[in-house]
Amino acid sequence: MSKKTCITKDPLEAADFIKRGKIVVFPTETVYGIGASSLNQEACLEIYSIKNRPLDNPFIVHVYDLNSIKTYVHLDKKKEDFIQHFSPGPISYILPKKGEIFSTGLDTIGVRIPSHDLFRKMLELSGPISAPSANLSGKPSITRFGDAVEIFTGRVDCILEGDSSDLGIESTVVDLSSERPIILRQGAIPFQKLKEFDGDVLDYQFTEESGPKSPGRKYRHYSPNCKVAWYEEGIEIPDSLRFACIGSPLPGADFSIQIHSNRQYMHELYSFFIECDRRNLDLALCIRPFPDSDAPALMNRIEKAISGM
Ligand code: TXA
Ligand code: MG
Repeated sequence: MSKKTCITKDPLEAADFIKRGKIVVFPTETVYGIGASSLNQEACLEIYSIKNRPLDNPFIVHVYDLNSIKTYVHLDKKKEDFIQHFSPGPISYILPKKGEIFSTGLDTIGVRIPSHDLFRKMLELSGPISAPSANLSGKPSITRFGDAVEIFTGRVDCILEGDSSDLGIESTVVDLSSERPIILRQGAIPFQKLKEFDGDVLDYQFTEESGPKSPGRKYRHYSPNCKVAWYEEGIEIPDSLRFACIGSPLPGADFSIQIHSNRQYMHELYSFFIECDRRNLDLALCIRPFPDSDAPALMNRIEKAISGM
């Protein structure tokens, strides 16, 4: 069933949709989100069916400030200092849930205070918004308004128009519900930055299998329809294949994007995948990221796209 979709530049109009139990796609500094009021279970559940998302994969609750975080989760001073140091910004915290807020049965929720001005204006009025990344389950996240309109018109009630997402990959997810902070998803704030602030921070890859986990990790993510592979020096591509390259210009490519830094790479990666699919290409080639602290987050997204997992 197709919905009538309102497209607006007014964050207050978008907030009003949320308050009336509707579904809104909006820009953030990481990627676009698709959200509903965290206080409206029915609306939150509708997002699962729009995205075709497995029901055990929880959403992040987006809130305006630290005070709102305190309404919905339990915090001590140390955790509060951690949050205050990194937020508002591209980082989500897993914390023990408190009170009535939408969750998928876990006793923790993920919370994030975004830094995106337009989205903050909306959030200030709407109250907490539960939102995963705006993409169909398994597909690359959306970082541009035009792609949001193409994919979500007719599926949601409102789309808030904004610029392309500054960062271009999802937030860093850090579990603050156990004794030591554990990074569950590499993201726009590198592990190194967290470690500099708090030497106790662990990377989940090096913790016991039984440790806290992010349900999202077991699902297929970020993959375009076409095949994805690393670009290697001297690579030979059969004439019959139509391909594109992100990294450096490649003769014979349908299109190429030159990359000068990992931040620019993040900004371009998902829209590159989406464009490859729009053109129905066979192959998307990705150059290896530059070796700096943003490399792990980029490697993580690209490796998932390559493995299709
Ligand atoms: O940048 C972002 O984080 C974007 C924007 C829209 O804020 N959102 C986003 O949401 O990427 P999503 O749902 O695509 O990814 C959230 C991740 C998932 O892997 C989910 O499993 C994990 O966070 N997560 C959420 N709540 C959790 C919880 N209580 N415990 C463990 N992991 C959780
Ligand atoms: Mg996602």
